[in-house]
Amino acid sequence: EARPRVLSGIQPTADSFHLGNYLGAVRNWVTMQETHDAFFCVVDLHALTVGPDPAQLRARTRASAAQLFAAGLDPERCTLFVQSHVPEHAQLAWVLNCLTGFGEAGRMTQFKDKSLKQGADRTTVGLFTYPVLQAADILLYQADAVPVGEDQRQHLELTRDLAQRFNTTYGRTFTVPAPHIVRDTAKIADLQDPGAKMSKSASTPNGLIELLEPTNRIVKKIKSAVTDTGREIVYDPENKAGVSNLLTIYAALTGRTIDDLTAAYDGKGYGDLKKDLAEVVVAFVEPIQQRTRMYLDDPAQLDKLLAIGGEKARSVSSRTLARAYERVGL
Ligand code: ADP
Ligand code: NA
Repeated sequence: EARPRVLSGIQPTADSFHLGNYLGAVRNWVTMQETHDAFFCVVDLHALTVGPDPAQLRARTRASAAQLFAAGLDPERCTLFVQSHVPEHAQLAWVLNCLTGFGEAGRMTQFKDKSLKQGADRTTVGLFTYPVLQAADILLYQADAVPVGEDQRQHLELTRDLAQRFNTTYGRTFTVPAPHIVRDTAKIADLQDPGAKMSKSASTPNGLIELLEPTNRIVKKIKSAVTDTGREIVYDPENKAGVSNLLTIYAALTGRTIDDLTAAYDGKGYGDLKKDLAEVVVAFVEPIQQRTRMYLDDPAQLDKLLAIGGEKARSVSSRTLARAYERVGL
């Protein structure tokens, strides 16, 4: 393969992905399968750090995979698999745990934020070593590139440090991955609180557009999205965050430029914009909903696709793990 290898994962922590997940991550994955040797995984081991209900975790893992296929990931053009189907992730994570400083792990700001939110008595060692498992996810595939948003930068730095440390200590074993900055990734804001990002953990239901929710609810949410008291449809994220967010979503889903949109809505009101955007979003989610249902209605086929992905993943990860084990004396 002459193409650079890329690895990215997404957590199965909700019944549905939201529009921010799609426009900020999944859509780029669909593009990257054309340019990269792409490995994508539903990281169910990571999801365990929030102590989910077992049946719910299992269902969400399947629904996540179904949505990813439905959104355009093609098993012929990328490797999509479930993290726990590939035992090498947990195995390499242990080796890397033994290379990671306690203080080093403690400096991860996401850990500090999340453990503060969970409370000290509910915070697990799993949450603490989560970034090390993430490093294993990446290094197992000798990934050249990892798509990263701002919030994941520190974790990728740790991955790079661990790869370099391992290579220096035991001999060259891992590719040191570089961040893959996706240029036109849209940051999608909460519909009710447009100063904040749309987020499954932080947004209220009305602030969130879920790919799998009933389309009449999506229409209602967009129509009741928070805008400011002005009337003009201009792109001004600082002062008109709500309208700007609607324009961002509109542009991202149609491929039209913001300038084109603001020109087209010159003299029109927020109501017109919301009505049209609702149509755009519904037309976008409908086929994804249909295809997701198709995958979920045929569990045997979904299992088969995930088994194929898991096997392709293991053909790479087992070789890397064997080499790493051998290097450290196991
Ligand atoms: P959440 O913030 O809803 O918990 P995750 O942290 O699981 O979502 O993010 C999964 C992926 O979706 C990440 O790549 C993240 O950068 C992307 N993402 C999440 N929310 C948004 C958003 N509002 N806008 C753009 N991308 C987002
Ligand atoms: Na998050």
